[in-house]
Amino acid sequence: MALRNIVTDEDPFLKKKSRPVTEITDRIRTLVEDMIETMRDADGVGIAAPQVGVLRRVAVVEVEDLYVLINPVITEMEGDQFNEEACLSVPGRAGKVHRPTRVVCECMDLDGNPQVHEVEGLTAVCFCHEIDHLDGILFTDKAEEIRSTELDGEEEDEE
Ligand code: NI
Repeated sequence: MALRNIVTDEDPFLKKKSRPVTEITDRIRTLVEDMIETMRDADGVGIAAPQVGVLRRVAVVEVEDLYVLINPVITEMEGDQFNEEACLSVPGRAGKVHRPTRVVCECMDLDGNPQVHEVEGLTAVCFCHEIDHLDGILFTDKAEEIRSTELDGEEEDEE
């Protein structure tokens, strides 16, 4: 496992759309391991492959449980929540974003098997935030009330 560099939002790379994974190769397994390590090292609750410079539809989320999302698609959503988000690729800023309160996500796991996750609350926010990254969308594209967090006394979880 290895830490990877996190791409930040001044880089237009983050605006690109990621391509689906067609086969679970050793390269994909290593990517996922490295993303988990990089997310944890940065005290994040999620990270998407484009944030480590790889345009593949892969994301990991860790809120209580660890989720590995390969080719994730949100198939159901309901409700509305409006909470502040941050992002490992957007240092020093946070902003409030509307997200569903519950989502159902279909994806593939690291064995290539189909998975369905039904998640709520913060986990649902993280799923939406990370899947947005795969389409080149940052929370700052959707947020209201973006503010600087540079003067915050404590570090927040970042996605
Ligand atoms: Ni993010």
